Amino acid sequence: MSSDSHNRPTPTTDGPPPIQIKRRTLLIGLGALGAMGVIGYWATAAKPNNNGSTFATALRIPPLLESEMLDGERVFRLSAQAGETELVPGVWFATMGFNGTHLGPTLRAVRGEKVRVHVTNNLPVATTAHWHGMLLPASQDGTAHQAIAPGATWKPSWQIDQPAATLWYHPHPHGQTELQVGSGMAGVFLIDEQTPSGLPSDYGVDDIPLIIQDVTVQSGGQRPGTPTTAPIGRIGNTVIVNGTHEPHFAATTRQLRLRVLNASAARCYNLELSTGEQFHLVGTDGGLLPAPSPMGSLLLSPAERAEIVVTVPQDADLVLRSVPHDLGMSKGDDMTSGAEDTFGILRITGAGAATAGGLPTALPSARHPGRASGIERHFILGDTTINGKSMDMDRIDTVVAAGSTEMWMLENTSKRAHNFHVHGTQFVVAAENGGTPEPRNRGWKDTIFIAPGGTAELMVPFGGYADPTTPYMYHCHMLWHEDQGMMAQYVLTDGEPSSEPVMHPNAMHH
Ligand code: C2O
Ligand code: CU
Ligand code: CU
Repeated sequence: MSSDSHNRPTPTTDGPPPIQIKRRTLLIGLGALGAMGVIGYWATAAKPNNNGSTFATALRIPPLLESEMLDGERVFRLSAQAGETELVPGVWFATMGFNGTHLGPTLRAVRGEKVRVHVTNNLPVATTAHWHGMLLPASQDGTAHQAIAPGATWKPSWQIDQPAATLWYHPHPHGQTELQVGSGMAGVFLIDEQTPSGLPSDYGVDDIPLIIQDVTVQSGGQRPGTPTTAPIGRIGNTVIVNGTHEPHFAATTRQLRLRVLNASAARCYNLELSTGEQFHLVGTDGGLLPAPSPMGSLLLSPAERAEIVVTVPQDADLVLRSVPHDLGMSKGDDMTSGAEDTFGILRITGAGAATAGGLPTALPSARHPGRASGIERHFILGDTTINGKSMDMDRIDTVVAAGSTEMWMLENTSKRAHNFHVHGTQFVVAAENGGTPEPRNRGWKDTIFIAPGGTAELMVPFGGYADPTTPYMYHCHMLWHEDQGMMAQYVLTDGEPSSEPVMHPNAMHH
């Protein structure tokens, strides 16, 4: 992120020419990242920011990335880089980010526009840039099949063809996603419609992205520490929002739209307001709801987004916080997975919140598809497998007819909490645990939480981008599970759908 004093580009003190220094220090930084299992950015113990009522550091707002129009395309430029960042006062972490040492700028485009992103990899290791939640051809999706070598630039382009939504981008290198996302490689990608929704929409003023991640500080608070390895994945002990530790936001409007992204590797957050007041859910992963939905708390698993509107009275001093919840595992597994923790997420004060203003009662929302009558597929979620298999980049697990809508039936038969993300689509939850979906899952989704023993029936409308040789992914978005192989691949075909695994046509290349 630009203009932040907490960013320390790698030091350039003694010795060799600048380029050399840069490369060497990057390698040192990455060496530390590589050792993260041992001395990384996570650790157990102290929970320093669990109340929130004293949070006083101004919330950082990720800058909007400037773009230029070139040959009818809106062109963005991102550079993946590494460095060190003071994520917690006095504690410097080896981090990675886009256009800065931690996190990335916000990209924003309007439905119908053609976009192109130049992604330059200035890391000494391969990376990728995946557009999570985007409807686009698989070849532009930024999975491990579109790896960007160190020094290379990848230039995907596509036409924005989906409703207004809060999407995001992050790397997807095979087996390395947790490391890179956990080190800070994540940013928001906002899609707008031509017609405004009536919701707060002044970026950074009353329309605020909240990128929530957990990091680990050693007890004593001096250094980065080691995360807890829990059944759900690796859990940090300190929460940061937009890279800000103990953040405070002074609202100047009565209605605040928070676009919450859980960009953590494994930790789930159960959001509520310290006042006990309700907030309104107005949007889920893939777009707006038909109407604001009042709720007292909201569970958000990794990669999920929730757009909520919080009413801020003039004299307000409140905290958006995460409170204990039920992940459906054994009590001990829930506890080590963070389900009993309380964390302040954001303190909000309303000293300047003079303007009145209500919420629209109806929102522009894309209509749900009818229940698909065609293909029904079943997916069993194991400990780190899908239908008993581990990810194989050379195996296509599922062949889907381009443009069709399928029913995907999920069942978590393991003792671990998971979630399930499908690339290249936004789906509708037809049923959850055999009944009506939870209110938080009634909008367009690309990722859904599934507790042990839980089930979900998804209506999945697939895109028309037939390409028999380039797969999309579907996987658990608990990043440790994903890296362990809880991922599979589908392609869109113009021909017959099938569920027999086939060898990847490009298998010879891998
Ligand atoms: Cu958020 Cu496969 O990605
Ligand atoms: Cu994705
Ligand atoms: Cu999982």
